[in-house]
Amino acid sequence: SAPLTILGIESSCDDTAAAVVRGVAGSAEVLTNIVYDQTTAHAAFGGVVPEIAARAHAEKVDVAVQQALISSDVALRDIDAIAVTAGPGLIGGVLSGVMCAKGLSAATGLPLIGVNHLAGHALTPQLTDGIAFPYLMLLVSGGHCQFLLVHDAETYTRLGGTIDDAPGEAFDKTARILGLPQPGGPAVEAAAAQGDPTAFPLPRPLMNRDDCNMSFSGLKTAVLRARDAVMAEHGGLPEAIRSDLCASFQGAICDVLTAKSRRALKAARALAPDLSTFAVAGGVAANTQIRTALSGLCAELETDFLAPPLKLCTDNAAMIAYAGLLRFTAGMTDDLTLSARPRWPL
Ligand code: KG4
Ligand code: ZN
Repeated sequence: SAPLTILGIESSCDDTAAAVVRGVAGSAEVLTNIVYDQTTAHAAFGGVVPEIAARAHAEKVDVAVQQALISSDVALRDIDAIAVTAGPGLIGGVLSGVMCAKGLSAATGLPLIGVNHLAGHALTPQLTDGIAFPYLMLLVSGGHCQFLLVHDAETYTRLGGTIDDAPGEAFDKTARILGLPQPGGPAVEAAAAQGDPTAFPLPRPLMNRDDCNMSFSGLKTAVLRARDAVMAEHGGLPEAIRSDLCASFQGAICDVLTAKSRRALKAARALAPDLSTFAVAGGVAANTQIRTALSGLCAELETDFLAPPLKLCTDNAAMIAYAGLLRFTAGMTDDLTLSARPRWPL
């Protein structure tokens, strides 16, 4: 079939993104991938503020689309369809993207395709590396933590996930508790490199339960308690002890993710015996200790390990364009009744 050119728009969390992807199912190329991140807008609040996010998306989404078209040297008339994240996410942000896409679709007559943000993440291994279905994906970021068995573009089995915080959120909260800067992941990782992971025996909630669910909120509370105990004893938080706490925290997250990945691979294999790849995506996949542990697990279990380039496995619109390309190829389009959904399980 002839290659398709798809414009993608993403605005479900704290990144305003637009991208152009060209190709066919199983073999597509990212022409441009524009991301405006709102980190500085939220920095003073210690987390994403929905109202601020919504305004920032509304201000930037049209600019992002224009940038994506200009820098890919693609005119609107060369686009075959417009794909947009229609959920799940912060509703004000999702609405900004959906309204922008509807406006473009109404003005140009181009087909409109509503995409599930999680499907975008889940299909990324096929966009970046042409990985064939089925494969197992661990999505692990500030907002997500789940194991998805991807049978095809429309069929997913959620094998398990966090029952409370996502690991990225735990990294960010731990950084805040320990007086480290945001985003917490890289700061905690850097400190952990100087610390002793056995210094603090932190809990590994649900780790030995025979399923693929996880829990990380108790871990953050344990870090808070350990910090308070250190402060009471030392009248402050000595840097060396802070590093030990970071290393112990990171070790706990890593142990849980690795143990649960082992279970998830087993469960996935039982459902899809021809599964050959375990892919990890999301900001937390940038963590060297976690990445190394997961790739070691895959080597042990004779499974291919894939961690797509970070720019395509954190929030972006190229993954939305590609998911849209697959839906369009399958004849699934939407019209102006497309609604923005705060919740939308796969
Ligand atoms: O995928 P992402 O950019 O955004 C969403 O959450 O949707 O992930 C961001 C999260 C943040 O919580 C950040 O602290 C975490 O990923 N992160 C890391 C590292 N780099 C980013 N966590 C652990 N280690 C890292 N090196
Ligand atoms: Zn995401």
